Amino acid sequence: MSARPEHAPAPTRLRDYRPPAWRVERVELEFDLGIDATEVAARLHLRRDEAQDAPLQLDGEGLDLLAIALDGRALDAGEYRHDDRSLEVDGARDGSVLETRVRLKPAANTALEGLYLSGSREAGFLLTQCEAEGFRHITFFPDRPDVLARYTVTLRADRARFPVLLAGGNPDGAGELADGRHWARFVDPHPKPSYLFALVAGRLEKLERGYTTADGRAVKLVMWSEANVIDCCHYALDALERAMRWDEQAYGRNYDLEVFHVVATHDFNMGAMENKGLNIFNAKYLLADPDSTTDDEYRAVEAVVAHEYFHNWSGNRVTCRDWFQLSLKEGFTVFREQSFSADMNSAPLKRIEDVALLRRAQFTEDAGPLAHPVRPAEYREINNFYTATVYEKGAELVRMLAGRLGAEGFRRGADRYFARNDGRAATLEDFLAALGEANDIDLAPYLAWYGQAGTPRLKACGEYDATRREYALTLSQHTLATPGQPLKQPLPIPVKLALFDHGGRMLPLHLDDQPPAPERVVVLAAAEQRFVFRDVDAPPVPSLLRGFSAPVILECDYAPDELALLLTHDADGFNRWEAGQQLAARAYDALRDGGDDAAPAAWCAALAALFARDGLDPALLAGLLTPPGELELADRQAEADPARIHALRQALQRRLAEHIGADALHARYRALAAPAGLDLGAAGQAARRLKRRVLELLALVDAGQAFALAAAQYDHATGMTDRLAALAVLVHHQAPQAAAALAHFRARYDDNALALDKWFAVQAQVPGEPALARVRALEADPKFTLKNPNRARALLGSWASGNPSGFHRADGAGYALYAERLAELDALNPQIAARLATAFNGWNRLEPVRREAARQAMAQLAARPALSRNLGEILGNMLKA
Ligand code: TRP
Ligand code: ZN
Repeated sequence: MSARPEHAPAPTRLRDYRPPAWRVERVELEFDLGIDATEVAARLHLRRDEAQDAPLQLDGEGLDLLAIALDGRALDAGEYRHDDRSLEVDGARDGSVLETRVRLKPAANTALEGLYLSGSREAGFLLTQCEAEGFRHITFFPDRPDVLARYTVTLRADRARFPVLLAGGNPDGAGELADGRHWARFVDPHPKPSYLFALVAGRLEKLERGYTTADGRAVKLVMWSEANVIDCCHYALDALERAMRWDEQAYGRNYDLEVFHVVATHDFNMGAMENKGLNIFNAKYLLADPDSTTDDEYRAVEAVVAHEYFHNWSGNRVTCRDWFQLSLKEGFTVFREQSFSADMNSAPLKRIEDVALLRRAQFTEDAGPLAHPVRPAEYREINNFYTATVYEKGAELVRMLAGRLGAEGFRRGADRYFARNDGRAATLEDFLAALGEANDIDLAPYLAWYGQAGTPRLKACGEYDATRREYALTLSQHTLATPGQPLKQPLPIPVKLALFDHGGRMLPLHLDDQPPAPERVVVLAAAEQRFVFRDVDAPPVPSLLRGFSAPVILECDYAPDELALLLTHDADGFNRWEAGQQLAARAYDALRDGGDDAAPAAWCAALAALFARDGLDPALLAGLLTPPGELELADRQAEADPARIHALRQALQRRLAEHIGADALHARYRALAAPAGLDLGAAGQAARRLKRRVLELLALVDAGQAFALAAAQYDHATGMTDRLAALAVLVHHQAPQAAAALAHFRARYDDNALALDKWFAVQAQVPGEPALARVRALEADPKFTLKNPNRARALLGSWASGNPSGFHRADGAGYALYAERLAELDALNPQIAARLATAFNGWNRLEPVRREAARQAMAQLAARPALSRNLGEILGNMLKA
């Protein structure tokens, strides 16, 4: 069943790619900006591919065409054809100049794609968002990433209403016009695809700093925001400078324009956008101040600032041939961002966070009806493919390649890739070829990873032979079918491993003829392979997939005490956490099935011992004390009942808390309370993280005391991390002190949109039965609106995607309400509606009552008239399951 089979447009397919028949060498754009009406004049200098005999066809949607001329002559009605998606023009030749003039209505644009208004009519500003296909909402153009043009952009507007005029590229003059208007011109010397075009116009304040690149270029770095929050841009400006230095050192990449502008907006569909020379950010990932920003958010700001900056090379200087190659820029850039964040913060913790995100978002995507390869074979709406698979799994694939080549080899390969593809629109094959050729290694086998959906299951089986003193490790792989891909092929899987003896010491690995080493990488290149280690004196405990060396699900029959041994002794911080996660999952299974108590006992005992020990990084300890999330646990059973999963996970944590003991928890809380002030450094963040975890555990064994501590923590908190942690404990346990804290928070942050989002989100995450009524009440709050994506996500997204037991009700009332809101949202902003609809992912693995209720809600929604292509595609794919 599909959403609207009769109207569904044909999908775009990778195998149908053809180079453009017409290119644009140079484009001159002139904007007469206004909130209700903006006019755009474009002059396109065209080049024709003589090998193709195609008419000149340009993309354009929702444009009011006012004038059209070819080579200086206005065209008659019969010389062009124009519908609501495209424009076809007769008589164009190689070297022709096409001129068009169109009118747009920015204030009426609620989809936040193309040119739109952020904020109010009185105080707001105009901005653009063009990736992936927004430029066609601004002017007629071959809106595809393999058409690289040089842009000259002139902006004209009323000076009082729009004192700041910005576009990508270098400034090239500005001046006054009649009637209080002014103008500014920008020239971008670097050819770029249309999705990297941007402009911003309005009343904005700036924060500015000079920067000199490693190759000696003076650059002005400028952060822009609305006046009341300009002081919240300091942290991002510092982060930008760190990112620029890092890219110079780690990849030899320098910035390449005279100015680098970054603008914050509260109205944005995604996190941020890497427009050439004019990055635009969701305020959530740019603004930061201690009073309203949590530690996690500070790190997110640093990461996203770096991510967008890194795109200047991985995305802008080298762009994508077509949108199937999206991971070429996103996977690589996420990898670069992860490496940067690891260098700026704690590397093992960063790895743990990244893998936790991969599992929560990508493994679940790969296991459900929306599963698709990192390089999809087809799509209907490209905006639906900015997914965890393209981003996060894509980054894991680059990490795997980097691991295969080693640090120096990877750098050599990256240098080759940038040099060879600079100014080009490239493919994933180009990327693998450059990395491989710079190292004389054939990386072609890794291409299979890009085309195959689904998470491989890696099975490991160890056998010890005492007489031969040999340990044989048999590795095998298999991947379950995904939609449209019933058969899977084996992939190259690098497995980094070590062996431990039962005293927790690492053994030297005698494998092939290489000198023995404590750690090795073996590559499983077939369905099954055996690796035999020599000179092993006793049955060892293998530490496998260290650092998460490949994005797979490891299946290994560890005994609980073996996992406990790794949890206690593994020197690889990631694998130590991983052993704890595996053990916790086994403990969860045991609680669920009423089985053998060995796993829960081993998990609690090992953690209690680590808890009592000094010297462990408090942030790592906090991670160790956290079992896998409810979404991950849901994947451990064929038919998920989210209410039961929540209850079991709570029971598991209660058992841990009891084992550690209320007194020990309380003592640790007291010890952490003092030093965890406002220090933003790693130590302060780590202390706050552990303090939160301890408080949450304490709430499970001594609620009264925990609530009192939480209320006091809320009252005396000096920063948002402690304040929000305390509020969450009170709200999620429905503590008597919750109402007062919520009221206080609301009053205090009434004018702070980002803080208020947290107020909505924390309540939407109250577990179980009460969530629905809470969401209903919050929807009626005057500060709630579906028009602002952050606010809609804070309430509806936090509930449907972040609160399984609160959303997945047996009576289906959650699904019905959610479907209703998705329909309303779809009429305003299809991208956001489609993204929020992915909360239904996993519906087909719910227990039968909820499954049927979810299916009905989706089917009714899918049957509505006039659904967007975005939402239609998601629902259609979902219902095929
Ligand atoms: N390229 C952006 C990034 O990952 C993301 C992006 C794609 C985006 N489409 C968007 C951002 C639409 C905002 C709106 O860095
Ligand atoms: Zn990106």
